[in-house]
Amino acid sequence: MTTLGARHAKACRDLDEAALGGLWTLQQWTHELSEAQRICLGLFDGPLFDGPPFDRPRLVALACGWMVVDELHITAVAVAPERRRCGFGRVLLEALLQRAAAGGARHATLEVSSCNAAALALYSNCGFETAGCRRNYYSDGRDALIQWRKLT
Ligand SMILES: CC(C)(COP(=O)(O)OP(=O)(O)OC[C@H]1O[C@@H](n2cnc3c(N)ncnc32)[C@H](O)[C@@H]1OP(=O)(O)O)[C@@H](O)C(=O)NCCC(=O)NCCS
Repeated sequence: MTTLGARHAKACRDLDEAALGGLWTLQQWTHELSEAQRICLGLFDGPLFDGPPFDRPRLVALACGWMVVDELHITAVAVAPERRRCGFGRVLLEALLQRAAAGGARHATLEVSSCNAAALALYSNCGFETAGCRRNYYSDGRDALIQWRKLT
């Protein structure tokens, strides 16, 4: 597991495009990864055993959040489409929660689209509960479900 910084902005942008449909630009990722209050963790694939020699480790999963006083605001969780259901999302999310708790966070929160069954299942699996709903929050008219978890 790697703590991601500004040097990983392009890798984050590439994964963001593949997994989240392009949440942030390269410039936004660079900015986000440079902020002191941010925690961003990633998992890389090793070079393929039988791949060409120029293969480099590739970012396949990330989980990011902001520390806001004693709350962790989770901003992005993404796993490369071909690496899903291998436990990467859960491992990174739990590591992010642990890191935030060690830094003084008492709660974690995020918003997720009401139609995102995979993410809702992951958050429920990791102890989050739906604490509220923002109607028509997303551009496609879907509601955002506010997820909340106590960190102890
Ligand atoms: C949501 C996402 C991060 C899950 O990552 P993942 O690595 O595939 O998840 P994991 O393998 O760690 O799964 C952990 C648990 O989450 C739940 N889960 C994950 N994907 C699921 C799916 N497609 N259907 C049902 N449950 C799912 C299961 O409870 C799973 O536990 P199990 O495998 O023991 O049944 C991934 O699907 C993704 O990147 N989606 C696109 C980006 C996105 O929507 N991010 C969240 C925005 S709020």
